[in-house]
Amino acid sequence: MTVIGTGYLGATHAACMAELGHEVRGVDVDEAKIERLRSGDVPFYEPGLEEILRRNLDNGRLRFSTDYREVAQFAHVHFLAVGTPQQRGSYAADLTYVRSVISDLVPLLEGSHLILGKSTVPVGTAAELQDLADLLAKENTKVEIAWNPEFLRESHGVEDTITPDRIVLGLRAGSEAEETVREVYASQLEANTPFIVTDRQTAELVKVAANSFLATKISFINAVAELCEISGADVKALADAIGYDDRIGRKFLGAGLGFGGGCLPKDIRAFMARAGELGADQALSFLREVDTINMRQRDRVVQFAREESGGNLLGTRITVLGAAFKPNSDDVRDSPALNVAGQLSLGGAAVSVYDPQAMANARREFPTLVYTDTVEGALEGAELVILATEWKIFRELDPERVAGLVAKPVIIDARNVLDARAWQDAGWRVRALGRSL
Ligand SMILES: NC(=O)c1ccc[n+]([C@@H]2O[C@H](COP(=O)([O-])OP(=O)(O)OC[C@H]3O[C@@H](n4cnc5c(N)ncnc54)[C@H](O)[C@@H]3O)[C@@H](O)[C@H]2O)c1
Repeated sequence: MTVIGTGYLGATHAACMAELGHEVRGVDVDEAKIERLRSGDVPFYEPGLEEILRRNLDNGRLRFSTDYREVAQFAHVHFLAVGTPQQRGSYAADLTYVRSVISDLVPLLEGSHLILGKSTVPVGTAAELQDLADLLAKENTKVEIAWNPEFLRESHGVEDTITPDRIVLGLRAGSEAEETVREVYASQLEANTPFIVTDRQTAELVKVAANSFLATKISFINAVAELCEISGADVKALADAIGYDDRIGRKFLGAGLGFGGGCLPKDIRAFMARAGELGADQALSFLREVDTINMRQRDRVVQFAREESGGNLLGTRITVLGAAFKPNSDDVRDSPALNVAGQLSLGGAAVSVYDPQAMANARREFPTLVYTDTVEGALEGAELVILATEWKIFRELDPERVAGLVAKPVIIDARNVLDARAWQDAGWRVRALGRSL
């Protein structure tokens, strides 16, 4: 099989498919990325991936290339895993990369081929790509497009690919591709992973619906957190209490700085845009509010920081702990932590940022911020500390030791992960979203 597009999703998928015993070729247009993957170097931080990559390069099951011609002849099953970012100036998904895979690959194919879309796309994309493929395919060549959306979570990419909690496959009417897909995922199916075979539209919608639900849950608790703060209630205790109801569940009820990354924000926007195109914009207008609540959390943290700086950020030395959009990742796409750091810096604060893995990516995105090599270096002389990404090393900071490093013991726990009482006992002034501390 081939995996086309070797970013966070594709590189992980390619390596894990080889780990499961398949012969895999990964393809990307980014030569530098392919060169790194070829030499066993994962171009991003994903726990456990490098070991699997190296093992399967060594045993010869996994190879990487930038040459579509080479891979077109290699396999009959092709995973499509290129990016679908938000279009500039619009909420809609940019399908340029997805379309160009079809126009570059399909004319090179001979015989019978199955393209399995993994990228997150607006409903109707598979059918559109099928029309394009039918137009471009050589005579006597059959190319089928099916959708097999991906649910992996960055930082859990390997386990989510090898042992997913479900596999979804969307097929066109009359398709016989299910058997092939059963072979691809034989080990997962043997382990009784739920396998949902449906039409392509449903498969496309499953992914955006899942992400929209998760985003809604996070914004729900953040909206309630705003009320908690005003009324003197505590959102953490509230979330624990409602989370015990198994119809609700405690996951994704962590009030704080909200969601970011390369998926949730762009996926809910693309979902709204597609609903509008289909004449159903009212059905999803609540997602606009979900998005607004989410973005407001970033402003609220900046507002807290302004208040703690006496109403004016100018010259305040602020340490932002975290740059990645979530812990155990180096992904800074639409990162709430970096957004806050950037806003504070633009407001005149002297901002110092530390993240265990995302420094290089953060530097590229926001070159004007100051980045320090150690957490201690970042904290030295700070007049305000903001915990913006809940890495374990930040959660486990010793408040007494840290109090010795900073100029003023004031912390905003923007992820609600610290033991506020312990920090207060060590002499800290603690602020958190949704809590009156
Ligand atoms: N990152 C995740 O956790 C995750 C999870 C589920 C779904 N997804 C979806 O998967 C898709 C990819 O996401 P990602 O995070 O891996 O993005 P990414 O930007 O990390 O990777 C995309 C890759 O595609 C390559 N590419 C672009 N055009 C190409 C072409 N014509 N041929 C070959 N390669 C090409 C790029 O060079 C890049 O390496 C998106 O639709 C995303 O929404 C991502």
